[in-house]
Amino acid sequence: MDKKLSIYLDDSIDTPLYIQLFLQLKNLIVEGVFRPNEKLPPIRKLAQQLRVNTITVVNAYKRLESEGLAYSIVGSGTYVASSTRHEQPLQPRDETEHLRMMEKGQIQVKEDTINFASTTPTPDLFPVDSFKALINRVLDRDKGEAFGYQQVQGYQPLRQSICDYLKNFSIDVLVDDIQVISGAQQGIDIVSKALIEYGDCVFVESPTYRGALEAFKSRGAKIVEIPMQEDGIDIETLKRSLATYNPKFIYIMPNFQNPTGYSYSHEKKLEILKIAREHNTFIVEDDFLSELSFTGGHSLPLKSLDRRQVVIYIKSFSKIFMPGLRLGFMAVPESLRGRVLAAKHTSDISTSGLIQRTFDLYLRENIWMEHINYMKDKYKKRYEIFLEAVRKSFPKSVRYKAPGGGLHMWFELPPGYSDQELYARCLKRGVLITPGSLFYSEGADTGHFRMSFAAVHSEKIETGVKIVGEVLHEYLGESTAPAIQIQEYSPFL
Ligand SMILES: Cc1ncc(COP(=O)(O)O)c(C=O)c1O
Repeated sequence: MDKKLSIYLDDSIDTPLYIQLFLQLKNLIVEGVFRPNEKLPPIRKLAQQLRVNTITVVNAYKRLESEGLAYSIVGSGTYVASSTRHEQPLQPRDETEHLRMMEKGQIQVKEDTINFASTTPTPDLFPVDSFKALINRVLDRDKGEAFGYQQVQGYQPLRQSICDYLKNFSIDVLVDDIQVISGAQQGIDIVSKALIEYGDCVFVESPTYRGALEAFKSRGAKIVEIPMQEDGIDIETLKRSLATYNPKFIYIMPNFQNPTGYSYSHEKKLEILKIAREHNTFIVEDDFLSELSFTGGHSLPLKSLDRRQVVIYIKSFSKIFMPGLRLGFMAVPESLRGRVLAAKHTSDISTSGLIQRTFDLYLRENIWMEHINYMKDKYKKRYEIFLEAVRKSFPKSVRYKAPGGGLHMWFELPPGYSDQELYARCLKRGVLITPGSLFYSEGADTGHFRMSFAAVHSEKIETGVKIVGEVLHEYLGESTAPAIQIQEYSPFL
Protein backbone atom coordinates (compact mmCIF):
# COMPACT_ATOMS: atom_id res chain seq x y z
CA MET A 1 0.00 0.00 0.00
CA ASP A 2 1.47 3.34 -0.97
CA LYS A 3 -0.37 5.40 1.58
CA LYS A 4 0.36 4.85 5.26
CA LEU A 5 -3.09 4.24 6.72
CA SER A 6 -3.95 4.06 10.38
CA ILE A 7 -6.73 1.50 10.45
CA TYR A 8 -7.36 -0.49 13.59
CA LEU A 9 -9.78 -3.43 13.69
CA ASP A 10 -10.83 -4.97 16.98
CA ASP A 11 -12.20 -8.52 16.84
CA SER A 12 -13.11 -8.51 20.54
CA ILE A 13 -16.11 -6.21 20.03
CA ASP A 14 -19.54 -6.95 18.63
CA THR A 15 -19.30 -4.77 15.52
CA PRO A 16 -18.38 -6.94 12.50
CA LEU A 17 -14.88 -6.34 11.14
CA TYR A 18 -16.13 -5.29 7.73
CA ILE A 19 -18.34 -2.60 9.31
CA GLN A 20 -15.40 -1.35 11.37
CA LEU A 21 -13.29 -1.23 8.21
CA PHE A 22 -16.05 0.42 6.22
CA LEU A 23 -16.51 3.15 8.87
CA GLN A 24 -12.80 3.87 9.08
CA LEU A 25 -12.37 3.99 5.30
CA LYS A 26 -15.37 6.25 5.12
CA ASN A 27 -13.74 8.56 7.64
CA LEU A 28 -10.55 8.63 5.59
CA ILE A 29 -12.56 9.57 2.50
CA VAL A 30 -14.52 12.26 4.34
CA GLU A 31 -11.34 13.66 5.87
CA GLY A 32 -9.77 13.85 2.39
CA VAL A 33 -7.01 11.30 3.05
CA PHE A 34 -8.39 9.61 -0.08
CA ARG A 35 -9.21 12.11 -2.80
CA PRO A 36 -12.10 11.84 -5.30
CA ASN A 37 -11.36 9.23 -8.00
CA GLU A 38 -8.29 7.95 -6.17
CA LYS A 39 -7.82 4.19 -6.24
CA LEU A 40 -8.36 2.43 -2.92
CA PRO A 41 -5.73 -0.14 -1.81
CA PRO A 42 -5.98 -3.48 -3.66
CA ILE A 43 -8.17 -5.94 -1.74
CA ARG A 44 -5.54 -8.62 -1.22
CA LYS A 45 -2.90 -6.15 -0.10
CA LEU A 46 -5.17 -4.41 2.40
CA ALA A 47 -6.39 -7.77 3.75
CA GLN A 48 -2.78 -8.88 4.24
CA GLN A 49 -1.80 -5.69 5.98
CA LEU A 50 -4.80 -5.80 8.33
CA ARG A 51 -4.49 -9.58 8.82
CA VAL A 52 -8.11 -10.18 7.85
CA ASN A 53 -9.86 -12.31 5.29
CA THR A 54 -10.17 -10.77 1.79
CA ILE A 55 -13.97 -11.13 2.18
CA THR A 56 -13.83 -8.54 4.98
CA VAL A 57 -12.28 -6.00 2.63
CA VAL A 58 -14.62 -6.96 -0.24
CA ASN A 59 -17.64 -6.41 2.01
CA ALA A 60 -16.32 -3.10 3.28
CA TYR A 61 -15.73 -1.90 -0.29
CA LYS A 62 -19.18 -3.09 -1.33
CA ARG A 63 -20.65 -1.11 1.53
CA LEU A 64 -18.73 2.00 0.42
CA GLU A 65 -20.15 1.48 -3.06
CA SER A 66 -23.71 1.01 -1.84
CA GLU A 67 -23.41 4.30 0.04
CA GLY A 68 -22.18 6.10 -3.06
CA LEU A 69 -18.73 6.66 -1.58
CA ALA A 70 -16.87 4.46 -4.06
CA TYR A 71 -17.23 2.77 -7.45
CA SER A 72 -15.44 -0.17 -8.99
CA ILE A 73 -14.02 -0.74 -12.45
CA VAL A 74 -13.92 -4.39 -13.47
CA GLY A 75 -10.34 -5.62 -13.75
CA SER A 76 -8.96 -2.38 -12.31
CA GLY A 77 -10.10 -1.89 -8.71
CA THR A 78 -12.21 0.27 -6.41
CA TYR A 79 -12.07 4.07 -6.56
CA VAL A 80 -13.31 6.92 -4.38
CA ALA A 81 -16.45 8.49 -5.86
CA SER A 82 -16.07 11.90 -7.43
CA SER A 83 -19.09 13.55 -5.79
CA THR A 84 -18.29 16.34 -3.34
CA ARG A 85 -20.96 15.25 -0.87
CA HIS A 86 -18.37 13.06 0.83
CA GLU A 87 -16.53 16.11 1.96
CA GLN A 88 -19.32 16.83 4.40
CA PRO A 89 -18.82 15.94 8.07
CA LEU A 90 -19.39 12.27 8.91
CA GLN A 91 -23.06 11.59 9.41
CA PRO A 92 -24.73 8.24 9.95
CA ARG A 93 -26.40 7.35 6.64
CA ASP A 94 -28.82 4.73 7.83
CA GLU A 95 -30.22 3.24 10.99
CA THR A 96 -27.78 0.33 11.05
CA GLU A 97 -24.81 2.60 10.95
CA HIS A 98 -26.38 4.85 13.55
CA LEU A 99 -26.77 1.83 15.80
CA ARG A 100 -23.12 0.87 15.38
CA MET A 101 -22.10 4.39 16.36
CA MET A 102 -24.34 4.21 19.40
CA GLU A 103 -22.60 0.98 20.40
CA LYS A 104 -19.37 2.94 20.49
CA GLY A 105 -21.00 5.67 22.54
CA GLN A 106 -20.96 8.06 19.61
CA ILE A 107 -24.48 9.19 19.03
CA GLN A 108 -24.82 11.77 16.29
CA VAL A 109 -28.05 13.69 16.39
CA LYS A 110 -29.44 16.34 14.11
CA GLU A 111 -30.49 19.54 15.81
CA ASP A 112 -34.20 18.76 15.58
CA THR A 113 -33.95 15.12 16.73
CA ILE A 114 -35.68 14.48 20.04
CA ASN A 115 -33.03 12.56 21.92
CA PHE A 116 -34.31 10.06 24.48
CA ALA A 117 -31.09 8.05 24.13
CA SER A 118 -28.78 10.34 26.08
CA THR A 119 -28.69 10.20 29.87
CA THR A 120 -26.58 13.35 30.07
CA PRO A 121 -28.03 16.56 31.55
CA THR A 122 -28.63 19.47 29.20
CA PRO A 123 -25.95 22.21 29.51
CA ASP A 124 -28.50 24.79 30.72
CA LEU A 125 -28.54 22.82 34.00
CA PHE A 126 -24.80 23.18 34.56
CA PRO A 127 -23.94 25.54 37.46
CA VAL A 128 -21.47 27.59 35.45
CA ASP A 129 -21.58 30.79 37.53
CA SER A 130 -20.92 29.18 40.91
CA PHE A 131 -18.22 27.00 39.38
CA LYS A 132 -16.52 30.04 37.89
CA ALA A 133 -16.54 31.84 41.25
CA LEU A 134 -14.98 28.84 42.99
CA ILE A 135 -12.34 28.30 40.31
CA ASN A 136 -11.28 31.91 40.76
CA ARG A 137 -10.99 31.37 44.49
CA VAL A 138 -8.84 28.31 43.96
CA LEU A 139 -6.59 30.20 41.55
CA ASP A 140 -6.19 33.12 43.97
CA ARG A 141 -5.48 30.76 46.84
CA ASP A 142 -3.32 28.01 45.28
CA LYS A 143 -1.85 29.71 42.21
CA GLY A 144 0.48 27.37 40.30
CA GLU A 145 -0.04 24.55 42.82
CA ALA A 146 -3.41 23.88 41.20
CA PHE A 147 -1.70 22.95 37.96
CA GLY A 148 0.94 20.52 39.18
CA TYR A 149 0.58 16.74 39.22
CA GLN A 150 -1.56 15.81 42.20
CA GLN A 151 -1.18 12.85 44.52
CA VAL A 152 -2.15 9.74 42.54
CA GLN A 153 -4.76 8.90 45.16
CA GLY A 154 -6.26 12.38 44.91
CA TYR A 155 -6.07 15.80 46.57
CA GLN A 156 -6.12 15.03 50.30
CA PRO A 157 -8.60 17.77 51.41
CA LEU A 158 -11.03 16.60 48.72
CA ARG A 159 -10.77 13.01 49.92
CA GLN A 160 -11.62 14.30 53.39
CA SER A 161 -14.68 16.21 52.17
CA ILE A 162 -15.80 13.17 50.20
CA CYS A 163 -15.66 11.09 53.42
CA ASP A 164 -17.80 13.73 55.16
CA TYR A 165 -20.25 13.80 52.25
CA LEU A 166 -20.58 10.02 52.30
CA LYS A 167 -21.83 10.17 55.90
CA ASN A 168 -25.11 11.52 54.42
CA PHE A 169 -25.49 8.10 52.81
CA SER A 170 -24.47 6.15 55.93
CA ILE A 171 -21.15 5.24 54.35
CA ASP A 172 -18.34 5.32 56.84
CA VAL A 173 -14.93 5.16 55.17
CA LEU A 174 -11.45 6.51 55.82
CA VAL A 175 -9.66 9.20 53.82
CA ASP A 176 -7.22 6.51 52.75
CA ASP A 177 -10.02 4.38 51.31
CA ILE A 178 -10.86 7.09 48.77
CA GLN A 179 -9.36 7.05 45.30
CA VAL A 180 -10.17 10.08 43.14
CA ILE A 181 -10.80 9.16 39.50
CA SER A 182 -11.40 10.98 36.24
CA GLY A 183 -15.01 9.78 35.92
CA ALA A 184 -16.69 6.47 36.77
CA GLN A 185 -15.76 4.99 33.41
CA GLN A 186 -12.14 5.32 34.45
CA GLY A 187 -13.04 3.67 37.75
CA ILE A 188 -14.52 0.69 35.90
CA ASP A 189 -11.47 0.52 33.68
CA ILE A 190 -9.08 0.75 36.65
CA VAL A 191 -10.89 -2.04 38.48
CA SER A 192 -10.66 -4.15 35.32
CA LYS A 193 -6.96 -3.42 35.00
CA ALA A 194 -6.30 -4.14 38.67
CA LEU A 195 -8.32 -7.34 38.95
CA ILE A 196 -8.94 -9.06 35.63
CA GLU A 197 -6.48 -11.36 33.95
CA TYR A 198 -7.15 -12.76 30.50
CA GLY A 199 -9.83 -15.47 30.72
CA ASP A 200 -11.09 -14.45 34.17
CA CYS A 201 -14.79 -14.45 34.73
CA VAL A 202 -16.89 -11.39 35.63
CA PHE A 203 -20.59 -11.45 36.54
CA VAL A 204 -22.85 -8.65 35.36
CA GLU A 205 -26.54 -7.88 35.59
CA SER A 206 -28.38 -8.53 32.37
CA PRO A 207 -29.06 -6.08 30.79
CA THR A 208 -26.25 -3.77 31.89
CA TYR A 209 -24.26 -0.63 31.09
CA ARG A 210 -22.45 -1.07 27.80
CA GLY A 211 -19.38 0.96 28.84
CA ALA A 212 -18.71 -1.62 31.56
CA LEU A 213 -19.18 -4.58 29.21
CA GLU A 214 -16.64 -3.09 26.81
CA ALA A 215 -14.13 -2.40 29.59
CA PHE A 216 -14.35 -5.98 30.90
CA LYS A 217 -14.10 -7.44 27.41
CA SER A 218 -11.09 -5.29 26.63
CA ARG A 219 -9.25 -7.13 29.44
CA GLY A 220 -10.22 -10.50 28.00
CA ALA A 221 -12.83 -11.28 30.65
CA LYS A 222 -15.46 -13.94 30.18
CA ILE A 223 -18.80 -12.25 30.86
CA VAL A 224 -21.57 -14.14 32.66
CA GLU A 225 -24.92 -12.35 32.52
CA ILE A 226 -27.32 -12.76 35.43
CA PRO A 227 -30.90 -11.62 34.75
CA MET A 228 -32.10 -8.44 36.40
CA GLN A 229 -35.51 -8.53 38.08
CA GLU A 230 -37.67 -5.65 39.26
CA ASP A 231 -36.25 -5.92 42.80
CA GLY A 232 -32.65 -6.60 41.84
CA ILE A 233 -30.47 -9.36 40.43
CA ASP A 234 -31.96 -12.88 40.14
CA ILE A 235 -30.49 -14.45 43.27
CA GLU A 236 -31.27 -18.05 42.31
CA THR A 237 -29.46 -17.76 38.96
CA LEU A 238 -26.62 -15.96 40.72
CA LYS A 239 -26.22 -18.86 43.17
CA ARG A 240 -26.39 -21.46 40.40
CA SER A 241 -23.78 -19.59 38.34
CA LEU A 242 -21.51 -19.35 41.37
CA ALA A 243 -21.57 -23.13 41.58
CA THR A 244 -19.95 -23.22 38.13
CA TYR A 245 -17.83 -20.08 37.95
CA ASN A 246 -15.49 -18.25 40.23
CA PRO A 247 -15.92 -14.57 39.25
CA LYS A 248 -13.33 -11.92 40.04
CA PHE A 249 -16.24 -9.64 40.89
CA ILE A 250 -19.94 -8.99 40.37
CA TYR A 251 -20.64 -5.64 38.71
CA ILE A 252 -23.98 -4.12 39.77
CA MET A 253 -25.95 -0.88 39.98
CA PRO A 254 -28.17 -1.28 43.07
CA ASN A 255 -30.10 2.00 42.62
CA PHE A 256 -31.90 3.01 39.40
CA GLN A 257 -29.96 0.50 37.37
CA ASN A 258 -28.87 1.36 33.84
CA PRO A 259 -30.80 0.52 31.67
CA THR A 260 -33.81 -0.87 33.61
CA GLY A 261 -34.19 1.84 36.26
CA TYR A 262 -34.92 -0.96 38.77
CA SER A 263 -33.54 -0.78 42.32
CA TYR A 264 -32.60 -3.60 44.69
CA SER A 265 -34.85 -4.37 47.61
CA HIS A 266 -33.18 -4.07 51.00
CA GLU A 267 -33.36 -7.88 51.33
CA LYS A 268 -31.57 -8.42 48.04
CA LYS A 269 -28.89 -5.92 49.01
CA LEU A 270 -28.21 -7.92 52.16
CA GLU A 271 -28.41 -11.21 50.30
CA ILE A 272 -25.88 -10.29 47.62
CA LEU A 273 -23.43 -9.02 50.24
CA LYS A 274 -23.74 -12.34 52.07
CA ILE A 275 -23.25 -14.31 48.86
CA ALA A 276 -20.17 -12.29 47.88
CA ARG A 277 -18.63 -12.92 51.30
CA GLU A 278 -19.37 -16.63 51.18
CA HIS A 279 -17.86 -16.99 47.71
CA ASN A 280 -14.91 -14.78 48.44
CA THR A 281 -15.58 -12.41 45.59
CA PHE A 282 -15.95 -8.62 45.32
CA ILE A 283 -18.93 -6.55 44.32
CA VAL A 284 -18.29 -3.51 42.13
CA GLU A 285 -21.06 -1.04 42.90
CA ASP A 286 -21.54 1.58 40.19
CA ASP A 287 -23.47 4.40 41.82
CA PHE A 288 -24.28 7.04 39.26
CA LEU A 289 -27.75 8.11 40.37
CA SER A 290 -28.63 7.26 43.96
CA GLU A 291 -29.20 10.95 44.82
CA LEU A 292 -32.08 11.08 42.36
CA SER A 293 -34.96 9.53 44.26
CA PHE A 294 -38.21 11.39 43.50
CA THR A 295 -40.47 9.66 45.99
CA GLY A 296 -39.05 11.15 49.16
CA GLY A 297 -37.03 8.11 50.23
CA HIS A 298 -33.30 7.73 50.39
CA SER A 299 -31.83 5.13 48.03
CA LEU A 300 -28.92 4.01 50.13
CA PRO A 301 -25.92 2.64 48.29
CA LEU A 302 -24.94 -0.97 48.90
CA LYS A 303 -21.66 0.32 50.31
CA SER A 304 -23.56 1.65 53.34
CA LEU A 305 -24.30 -1.98 54.32
CA ASP A 306 -20.82 -3.31 53.61
CA ARG A 307 -19.34 -4.31 56.96
CA ARG A 308 -16.79 -6.79 55.56
CA GLN A 309 -15.09 -4.77 52.83
CA VAL A 310 -16.41 -6.66 49.84
CA VAL A 311 -17.78 -3.63 47.96
CA ILE A 312 -15.66 -1.55 45.59
CA TYR A 313 -17.75 1.58 45.38
CA ILE A 314 -17.54 3.74 42.24
CA LYS A 315 -19.23 7.11 42.24
CA SER A 316 -19.93 9.24 39.18
CA PHE A 317 -20.99 12.88 39.28
CA SER A 318 -21.64 13.11 35.56
CA LYS A 319 -25.42 12.84 35.65
CA ILE A 320 -25.91 15.13 38.62
CA PHE A 321 -23.17 17.67 37.92
CA MET A 322 -21.14 18.22 34.74
CA PRO A 323 -19.91 15.20 32.76
CA GLY A 324 -17.12 17.11 31.04
CA LEU A 325 -15.30 17.72 34.34
CA ARG A 326 -14.31 14.04 34.34
CA LEU A 327 -14.44 13.64 38.07
CA GLY A 328 -15.55 10.82 40.34
CA PHE A 329 -14.20 8.69 43.16
CA MET A 330 -13.95 5.16 44.44
CA ALA A 331 -14.08 3.78 47.97
CA VAL A 332 -11.79 0.78 47.86
CA PRO A 333 -11.38 -2.10 50.36
CA GLU A 334 -7.99 -1.91 52.02
CA SER A 335 -6.80 -5.17 50.45
CA LEU A 336 -7.10 -3.64 46.96
CA ARG A 337 -5.77 -0.13 47.57
CA GLY A 338 -2.27 -0.78 46.21
CA ARG A 339 -3.45 -2.45 43.01
CA VAL A 340 -6.01 0.27 42.34
CA LEU A 341 -3.43 2.99 42.96
CA ALA A 342 -1.00 1.38 40.53
CA ALA A 343 -3.71 1.06 37.87
CA LYS A 344 -4.72 4.70 38.31
CA HIS A 345 -1.11 5.79 37.98
CA THR A 346 -0.66 4.03 34.67
CA SER A 347 -3.99 5.39 33.42
CA ASP A 348 -3.52 9.15 33.74
CA ILE A 349 -1.15 9.75 36.72
CA SER A 350 -3.67 11.97 38.48
CA THR A 351 -7.00 13.70 38.02
CA SER A 352 -6.91 17.45 37.26
CA GLY A 353 -5.82 19.39 40.34
CA LEU A 354 -7.82 22.46 39.42
CA ILE A 355 -11.03 20.47 39.15
CA GLN A 356 -10.37 18.53 42.37
CA ARG A 357 -9.68 21.71 44.34
CA THR A 358 -12.73 23.48 42.97
CA PHE A 359 -14.98 20.51 43.70
CA ASP A 360 -13.55 20.35 47.20
CA LEU A 361 -14.82 23.89 47.81
CA TYR A 362 -18.20 22.87 46.41
CA LEU A 363 -18.52 20.15 49.01
CA ARG A 364 -17.16 22.26 51.87
CA GLU A 365 -19.39 25.25 51.26
CA ASN A 366 -22.63 23.29 51.05
CA ILE A 367 -23.25 24.62 47.55
CA TRP A 368 -23.23 20.98 46.56
CA MET A 369 -26.42 20.04 48.44
CA GLU A 370 -28.16 23.11 47.02
CA HIS A 371 -27.11 22.02 43.57
CA ILE A 372 -28.31 18.43 44.09
CA ASN A 373 -31.71 19.68 45.27
CA TYR A 374 -31.93 21.93 42.23
CA MET A 375 -31.11 19.06 39.86
CA LYS A 376 -33.55 16.77 41.64
CA ASP A 377 -36.28 19.32 41.23
CA LYS A 378 -35.62 19.76 37.52
CA TYR A 379 -35.36 16.05 36.81
CA LYS A 380 -38.43 15.25 38.88
CA LYS A 381 -40.48 17.61 36.72
CA ARG A 382 -39.16 15.98 33.56
CA TYR A 383 -39.84 12.55 35.03
CA GLU A 384 -43.45 13.39 35.86
CA ILE A 385 -44.14 14.88 32.43
CA PHE A 386 -42.49 11.87 30.81
CA LEU A 387 -44.46 9.32 32.85
CA GLU A 388 -47.76 11.08 32.25
CA ALA A 389 -47.07 11.23 28.50
CA VAL A 390 -46.19 7.52 28.45
CA ARG A 391 -49.40 6.66 30.27
CA LYS A 392 -51.38 8.68 27.75
CA SER A 393 -49.66 7.60 24.54
CA PHE A 394 -48.23 4.08 24.76
CA PRO A 395 -50.20 0.95 23.85
CA LYS A 396 -51.20 -1.09 26.88
CA SER A 397 -49.27 -4.11 25.66
CA VAL A 398 -45.98 -2.26 26.21
CA ARG A 399 -44.90 -3.10 29.76
CA TYR A 400 -42.88 -0.88 32.06
CA LYS A 401 -42.35 -0.10 35.70
CA ALA A 402 -42.13 3.49 36.93
CA PRO A 403 -38.78 3.61 38.77
CA GLY A 404 -39.60 6.53 41.10
CA GLY A 405 -36.20 8.10 40.43
CA GLY A 406 -33.20 8.16 38.14
CA LEU A 407 -33.18 9.34 34.57
CA HIS A 408 -34.60 6.60 32.40
CA MET A 409 -37.24 3.94 31.96
CA TRP A 410 -37.17 0.49 30.44
CA PHE A 411 -39.96 -0.83 28.24
CA GLU A 412 -40.84 -4.31 27.04
CA LEU A 413 -42.52 -4.97 23.70
CA PRO A 414 -44.94 -7.88 23.37
CA PRO A 415 -43.25 -11.17 22.37
CA GLY A 416 -41.97 -11.38 18.82
CA TYR A 417 -41.34 -7.64 18.28
CA SER A 418 -37.86 -6.29 17.66
CA ASP A 419 -36.25 -3.40 19.56
CA GLN A 420 -33.96 -2.65 16.62
CA GLU A 421 -36.92 -2.37 14.27
CA LEU A 422 -38.66 -0.02 16.69
CA TYR A 423 -35.49 2.03 17.03
CA ALA A 424 -35.22 2.37 13.23
CA ARG A 425 -38.86 3.38 12.90
CA CYS A 426 -38.55 6.02 15.64
CA LEU A 427 -35.37 7.41 14.08
CA LYS A 428 -37.24 7.91 10.80
CA ARG A 429 -39.74 10.03 12.73
CA GLY A 430 -36.93 12.13 14.27
CA VAL A 431 -36.90 10.52 17.72
CA LEU A 432 -33.95 8.66 19.18
CA ILE A 433 -34.52 5.83 21.66
CA THR A 434 -31.98 3.22 22.79
CA PRO A 435 -32.64 -0.33 21.59
CA GLY A 436 -32.29 -2.82 24.42
CA SER A 437 -29.86 -4.95 22.43
CA LEU A 438 -27.08 -2.46 23.22
CA PHE A 439 -27.18 -3.58 26.84
CA TYR A 440 -26.56 -7.28 26.30
CA SER A 441 -23.11 -8.77 25.88
CA GLU A 442 -23.97 -10.48 22.59
CA GLY A 443 -26.35 -7.76 21.41
CA ALA A 444 -29.47 -9.95 21.71
CA ASP A 445 -32.68 -8.35 20.43
CA THR A 446 -35.05 -9.11 23.32
CA GLY A 447 -37.71 -6.56 22.42
CA HIS A 448 -36.82 -4.00 25.09
CA PHE A 449 -35.94 -0.34 24.81
CA ARG A 450 -34.72 2.44 27.10
CA MET A 451 -35.87 6.03 27.10
CA SER A 452 -34.18 8.76 29.13
CA PHE A 453 -35.67 12.14 29.90
CA ALA A 454 -32.34 13.67 31.03
CA ALA A 455 -31.50 15.46 27.81
CA VAL A 456 -34.95 16.51 26.61
CA HIS A 457 -36.50 19.78 27.71
CA SER A 458 -39.94 19.57 29.29
CA GLU A 459 -41.68 21.16 26.26
CA LYS A 460 -40.31 18.49 23.95
CA ILE A 461 -40.91 15.45 26.16
CA GLU A 462 -44.62 15.24 25.46
CA THR A 463 -44.16 15.67 21.69
CA GLY A 464 -41.42 13.03 21.58
CA VAL A 465 -43.30 10.46 23.67
CA LYS A 466 -46.40 11.01 21.54
CA ILE A 467 -44.40 10.22 18.39
CA VAL A 468 -42.96 7.05 19.95
CA GLY A 469 -46.53 6.14 20.99
CA GLU A 470 -47.73 6.56 17.40
CA VAL A 471 -44.84 4.47 16.07
CA LEU A 472 -45.62 1.78 18.66
CA HIS A 473 -49.32 1.72 17.76
CA GLU A 474 -48.44 1.44 14.10
CA TYR A 475 -45.80 -1.27 14.70
CA LEU A 476 -47.87 -3.34 17.08
CA GLY A 477 -51.01 -2.78 15.04
CA GLU A 478 -53.05 -1.75 18.03
CA SER A 479 -55.68 0.92 18.54
CA THR A 480 -54.99 3.82 20.89
CA ALA A 481 -55.64 2.75 24.45
CA PRO A 482 -54.34 3.96 27.83
CA ALA A 483 -51.26 2.15 29.08
CA ILE A 484 -51.47 -0.26 32.02
CA GLN A 485 -50.96 1.50 35.33
CA ILE A 486 -48.24 -0.34 37.15
CA GLN A 487 -47.67 0.29 40.81
CA GLU A 488 -45.20 3.09 41.52
CA TYR A 489 -41.86 1.86 42.83
CA SER A 490 -40.71 3.10 46.22
CA PRO A 491 -37.00 3.09 46.91
CA PHE A 492 -35.75 1.07 49.85
CA LEU A 493 -33.87 2.38 52.85
C1 LIG B 1 -23.96 3.16 34.75
C2 LIG B 1 -22.89 4.11 34.33
N1 LIG B 1 -21.69 4.04 34.91
C3 LIG B 1 -20.69 4.85 34.56
C4 LIG B 1 -20.87 5.80 33.58
C5 LIG B 1 -19.71 6.68 33.21
O1 LIG B 1 -19.75 7.83 34.01
P1 LIG B 1 -18.61 8.95 34.01
O2 LIG B 1 -19.09 10.03 33.11
O3 LIG B 1 -18.52 9.38 35.44
O4 LIG B 1 -17.35 8.34 33.53
C6 LIG B 1 -22.10 5.92 32.94
C7 LIG B 1 -22.30 6.90 31.89
O5 LIG B 1 -23.33 6.99 31.27
C8 LIG B 1 -23.15 5.05 33.33
O6 LIG B 1 -24.34 5.10 32.76
